[in-house]
Amino acid sequence: MKNKLYVFGSVNLDFMIEQERFPHQGETVNGKNFRKFFGGKGANQAIAAAILGVDTELIATVGVEEFSLVKNHLEHHKVRTNYLSSIEGVHTGIAIVLQSQGDNRIILDSGANSFPSLSSLSKALDTAQTGDVLLLQFEIPVKDIFESIQLAKQKNLIVILNPTPVQAIPDYIYELVDYLILNQTEAEALANIYPRSINDCENVFNILQDKGLNSLILTLGSQGSVWIDRHSKLYYPSEEIQVVDSTGAGDAFIGMFVSGLINKQSPSTILQYCNKVGALTCLKRGAVIGVNSLSELTKHLNEEEL
Ligand code: RIB
Repeated sequence: MKNKLYVFGSVNLDFMIEQERFPHQGETVNGKNFRKFFGGKGANQAIAAAILGVDTELIATVGVEEFSLVKNHLEHHKVRTNYLSSIEGVHTGIAIVLQSQGDNRIILDSGANSFPSLSSLSKALDTAQTGDVLLLQFEIPVKDIFESIQLAKQKNLIVILNPTPVQAIPDYIYELVDYLILNQTEAEALANIYPRSINDCENVFNILQDKGLNSLILTLGSQGSVWIDRHSKLYYPSEEIQVVDSTGAGDAFIGMFVSGLINKQSPSTILQYCNKVGALTCLKRGAVIGVNSLSELTKHLNEEEL
């Protein structure tokens, strides 16, 4: 039986508006194409993994009013919702997404995401098996994240951390995390280096390795991605695309990363697939993964090779 993924994370409602350029301080600019999407890094990554064939359970909290809506949306994408809970008097997480020339700036009001249920996570992990994966982001309080990582390691789970929005990580957590996935800004916040080259990426890894980190995946936007651990380093370039909306591209990348690990693909295949799904996601509006299945993604890659 294949290993399972548990995502302990956020659900947001994304309110997105496009503009030619981002406003300066005190300035009002005209926007267009206002849209609402389901979002939240926890939900986005869970949906991406489920679409790519991973048996996925999302443990998250939303407001009472949106509970059914969110549950239906997750289940439509084959994400298990046995541990989705709702909380009275608090709104579902909200993301205001400003989008310009394919780039975005996001403001979050965490709402119900501030009240994650560690007891639900603990119940969910009761039946977890060695080699199952716990995937986390920083859109729920970090104290709950750190406790859940300790719980997962007691059960021999693989822990993947995508610490965004970025905050400091204690050394004992670096030691427990199997894979840390960062973009350039997060790398700068944690290691004081904004990585632009493979050499920079190695320097980031060396700094975090001294804190106990095992394995680092760095996404370098249009430059590609790098995977470094104590024994090896791997680089895979991005393809040139006309970005429509980069929202959710990182989440799709991570969903594919988990799928690749669970399906025991080689690191170079995983990075290639991750870059491809990230690129395809940038061609669509909203935090929606750019493919409908793993076989569709495989087809895209095979067509390229012809
Ligand atoms: O990664 C994209 C996501 O970040 C959006 O869906 C938004 O909700 C924020 O969490």
